[in-house]
Amino acid sequence: MTRLEHLTPRRIVAVLVVLALCAATAAASWALGRSTSGSVGPVGSAPAGRVLSPALTPDLTTNVAYQQALVAAPSGKPKVTVIGTGGTIAGVATNRGSFTNYRAGQIPIADLVDDLRPEIDAVADVETIQFGNKGSGGYTIAEFHALTLAVDNALKTSDGVVVTSGTDTMEEFAYWLDLTVRSPKPVVMTGAMRPTAAGTVDGPGVIGADGPANLYNAITLAGSRVTTCFGTVLMLGDEFHAARDVTKTSSYRMDTFQTRELGVLGWVDGSNIKVGRAPARVATCDNPQRWATPFDLSKIAPTAIPRTEIVYGYQQAGGEAITGFADAGVKGIVTAGTGAGGLSGAQGTARTAAVAKGVVFVSTTRTGSGSVYGGATGSVIAGDDLLPQKARLLLMLSLAYAQGDVDQVRTWVTTIGNPEWDTLAGSAGTPPGQLKPAA
Ligand code: SIN
Repeated sequence: MTRLEHLTPRRIVAVLVVLALCAATAAASWALGRSTSGSVGPVGSAPAGRVLSPALTPDLTTNVAYQQALVAAPSGKPKVTVIGTGGTIAGVATNRGSFTNYRAGQIPIADLVDDLRPEIDAVADVETIQFGNKGSGGYTIAEFHALTLAVDNALKTSDGVVVTSGTDTMEEFAYWLDLTVRSPKPVVMTGAMRPTAAGTVDGPGVIGADGPANLYNAITLAGSRVTTCFGTVLMLGDEFHAARDVTKTSSYRMDTFQTRELGVLGWVDGSNIKVGRAPARVATCDNPQRWATPFDLSKIAPTAIPRTEIVYGYQQAGGEAITGFADAGVKGIVTAGTGAGGLSGAQGTARTAAVAKGVVFVSTTRTGSGSVYGGATGSVIAGDDLLPQKARLLLMLSLAYAQGDVDQVRTWVTTIGNPEWDTLAGSAGTPPGQLKPAA
């Protein structure tokens, strides 16, 4: 049997949709800046004369490796593992009309999947793993470490994995998995903004609960294999987003998840999965060594991941938080500064002292979108457009693997998953999301 004979009508439609929509690239421009940092205020501004470069969506029409990955996927009904960690999707409300008064992390994941039967059985062969059952904010980095290993283990035999979690820190679950899962098979995070059951775990459904539809669509998306090599995606309300860039923007709204500057990756419209753009790392789909990040968690214990914290910038902010963290042995601090990364005078002084003690900083913005530039040398690294909570995860993993090499930390923080072309690397430039060649 040739590979083409594996193409089912549904898969052909999926590939055609990908090819057609990705031909229309999402265009945005960023200025690349590299300047010395360590000063109070923004880490640096884009130096004059730097070339503005469009961030190109990987052109899946020419990405043979991506198409082969889809075509080579086994035909027939996919096997999907759903790993439950709790959250509102597993929540029990006081009554059917209570959207805000409920206990998260109550309903077993097997029950949530059973509630989708028999319909889900036509979509995929689904098995479940109860990893935990609590609010998303209660998970530790050590548990994140174990979750990565559980996902990779499931992907040895499954075609895709869905992870359910609370929405509060779902974007951190997603980005952690994006940075650490080794398998290029689809990983989809989902959850709910409204609890699922009322009264008891097997009570009647909450009015307008979004959990069942989100779980159904997440299984559909993972089983479709369309997001092969995309890394982890986050799916809520029929939209799926890149883990690196998505954020929760509202405490209660159903459309809380947004990717502010780059937009959604695509949509699940029933059995039609539409892809509007793809994360940069799809471009390395043909090379597992380059596709996977350096952060192979099977090689380190959770205790090897250093404590890394976030400090917020605001009017006349004191420096004690930075000093206190440094004195407590924190190895990395992300600052969520004002505007393009600004800190107060006291914070700047405290940062300089902490750098002298060996603390590595990543400078980000509290604005919720936009970039921070500069920091070509030294221990203050510009976080570009990473949100503070995302920069923290990338910084802690980089610190764990770089073994004291701050230049290595900077390279990883500024390149891994970055959707912009490096216009300084030569005429062709370094494709988005790839490590720059050694100088
Ligand atoms: C949580 O994050 O665990 C609670 C909130 C939610 O799931 O929406």
